[in-house]
Amino acid sequence: MSRAPFARRLLTVAGVDRLGAYLVLRVEDPDGPQPEPGQFAMLAAEERWGGGEGERPYLPRAFSVARQRGGEAHFLLEDVGPGSRRLCELGTGERLWTLGPLGRGFTAPPSGRRAILVGGGVGIAPLAILQDRLQEEATVLLGFRDGARAEGAALLEQARVATDDGSRGHHGLVTDLLAQEVERDPLAVVYACGPAPMLEGVRAMCAASSVPAQLALEAGMACGFGACFGCVVPCRGGGYLRICVDGPVIDAAELDHVDAHAGAPA
Ligand SMILES: Cc1cc2nc3c(=O)[nH]c(=O)nc-3n(C[C@H](O)[C@H](O)[C@H](O)COP(=O)(O)OP(=O)(O)OC[C@H]3O[C@@H](n4cnc5c(N)ncnc54)[C@H](O)[C@@H]3O)c2cc1C
Ligand code: FES
Repeated sequence: MSRAPFARRLLTVAGVDRLGAYLVLRVEDPDGPQPEPGQFAMLAAEERWGGGEGERPYLPRAFSVARQRGGEAHFLLEDVGPGSRRLCELGTGERLWTLGPLGRGFTAPPSGRRAILVGGGVGIAPLAILQDRLQEEATVLLGFRDGARAEGAALLEQARVATDDGSRGHHGLVTDLLAQEVERDPLAVVYACGPAPMLEGVRAMCAASSVPAQLALEAGMACGFGACFGCVVPCRGGGYLRICVDGPVIDAAELDHVDAHAGAPA
């Protein structure tokens, strides 16, 4: 596992690319540690990060590393609240505080077993860097609410797409596509990240078919490094896991269910 340096770093925005309803924030990071697929960073804008009149500063927010390429780290952003909105406003040359890479990432599939990547919404981000690093070709299934969000599928290669409104690809849930793939190849290994109901659907389907699955959870976080217990989810057999240090990637077999608060923003 890559270890984060013992301090947050002030990095500069190299550029911002629009991808339908999403933005890809590209950050100069030529000397940073190499992240594992599935690891994340805690991000905060250098300026105007809360703390305006009558406001307290925001906590840093967690974002998956979507890609690390050419001396840049890439993050996929959707404006869902004050922190992501402020990060979406950043322009080239502006700076942000970055702590990471943090957490435990995905582990590679055993040789000879096909990887199926299943993503929903902004949960596609850690699957892009995973696809970049896999030695063998993976099957990619991505689900989105609508056509504008489905443009995010361009982050990965050769994705089959499902949309809730039928504007692109399969009209229905990405788990419909997964059911076909699991039936075709029960020796596959599933890697998933997305909203909690999607992750729970993936978990239940894989459990019923005895297909191993690794789930990247996105429970809200406060510290990001194990100190506050703000990110816990219940695990099988009692007790809790801290998503920031025991995850965010969790073996599906460790969970009885995916907690409603443990998914990407829907
Ligand atoms: C490991 C990890 C990786 C992540 N990767 C990404 C990523 O790659 N891209 C990305 O866009 N996001 C990602 N997230 C999610 C992101 O960190 C959160 O959505 C973050 O909270 C956004 O901050 P915000 O201030 O914009 O929104 P917040 O105000 O924190 O709101 C976030 C979401 O929670 C909902 N919400 C807020 N308060 C409440 C409440 N009281 N009750 C119910 N719902 C509420 C909001 O409607 C919104 O959908 C990741 C999270 C984790 C833990
Ligand atoms: S966010 Fe603080 S312990 Fe996980």
